[in-house]
Amino acid sequence: MSVQRSVLVTGATGLIGKALCRRLIARGDRVVVFTRNPATARTIMPGAAQYVAWDAKPGDWEAALETVDAVVHLAGASIAGRRWTPAYKREILESRTLSTRALVDAMARARQRPSVFVCASGIDYYGPRGDEPVDESAPPGRNFLAQVCVAWEGEACRAADLGVRTVMIRTGIVLDRREGALARLLLPFQLFVGGPILPGTQWWSWIHLDDEVGLILRCIDDERASGPFNGVAPEPQRNRDFSATLGRVLGRPSWLPLPGFVLRLILGEMAPALLIERQRAVPSKALALGYQFAYPTLEPALRAALARSS
Ligand SMILES: NC(=O)c1ccc[n+]([C@@H]2O[C@H](COP(=O)([O-])OP(=O)(O)OC[C@H]3O[C@@H](n4cnc5c(N)ncnc54)[C@H](OP(=O)(O)O)[C@@H]3O)[C@@H](O)[C@H]2O)c1
Repeated sequence: MSVQRSVLVTGATGLIGKALCRRLIARGDRVVVFTRNPATARTIMPGAAQYVAWDAKPGDWEAALETVDAVVHLAGASIAGRRWTPAYKREILESRTLSTRALVDAMARARQRPSVFVCASGIDYYGPRGDEPVDESAPPGRNFLAQVCVAWEGEACRAADLGVRTVMIRTGIVLDRREGALARLLLPFQLFVGGPILPGTQWWSWIHLDDEVGLILRCIDDERASGPFNGVAPEPQRNRDFSATLGRVLGRPSWLPLPGFVLRLILGEMAPALLIERQRAVPSKALALGYQFAYPTLEPALRAALARSS
C-alpha cells in the first residue's frame, strides 16, 4: 500500500502522462498538473486537484512546486511529431533541457523541496547499439537523440545535488493503439501491406503502457530507486519478429518489407534514428528492484494494448 501523496506531473496531457495521472488519482494521490494550457488540460486530463500554467521561465507556478511530495517531468516536444528541421531539432532539445532546468532551479529556491524527482528520458541515450544488450551502466551514444538525452539527464541530475532523490526513466517504444509508434504501424497492417522495416534484424525495445506507468509509480514510492532506469520490457524483439507478432495479433499478414531508404525519403533523418538504428535495452535496474512486469512478453502485451478501449 502506498501512502497518499501530492504529485506534480508535467506532460500530463500526453500518452504517458494521462495514464499516469489516472493511476495516481485512482489510488488516492493528489495530482497537480503543470501544463502550457490549463483549459485544454482540464478537458484532456480531468480529475486533477490543480491545473497550473507554466513554462520554462521563473513564474507564479513555483509556489505550487512547494506543495508537492513528488515531481514527474514528462513534457517535451514530440520526437516524431514533425520532420526534423534544424528549428524543430532545437525545439526537441530545448523543450526538455530548459523545462528541466527551470524545475530544478525552482527546487533550489523552494523552502520545501519534493522528496523525489522522476524525469523522462529515452533509451535513445545509448545511441545505435546493434545486437549488444544495453543496461543502465552502458555509456551514452553520440547521435542527435543521444545528445538530447545526455543534456536532459544532465539537467535532471542537478536535482540530486540538491538532495532530491532523482530518477531518469529511459523509455523504449510505449505500446498504445491510439498514440505513438504502434498506432502509426497499425494502418499498413490493416490495409494488408504490413511487414518488417528493413533490415528487420534491428532490435525494438518496447514496453506496455501499464508497465511504463507501473515503473514510474514504483520509482516514486520506492526509496531505493535512484539514477537511470530502462523503461523497457525484459524481452526486446527484432523488428521482423515484432512485425510478425503484430500481424498475428491483428489477423493480418506481415509480408511486405519496408526498405529503410524509402522511410528516410519520406520522414528524413528521424527514420533511421527512430526505426532502424535502435537498441537492445534490458531493464536490469527495474528487475533488481523487484518490479514485476504485467506484460513481460510481446504477444500478450500487444493483445492487451490493441484491445484497450481508452
Ligand atoms: N511514448 C514513448 O514511446 C516514449 C519513448 C521514449 C521517451 N519518451 C519520453 O517520455 C515523455 C512523455 O512521452 P509521451 O509519449 O507521453 O509524450 P507526448 O504524448 O508527446 O506528450 C508530451 C507532453 O509534453 C508537452 N509538450 C508538447 N510539446 C511541447 C513543447 N514544444 N514544449 C513544452 N512542452 C511540450 C505537452 O503537454 P502540455 O501541452 O500539457 O504542456 C504534451 O502533452 C516525453 O518526454 C518523451 O520524449 C516517450
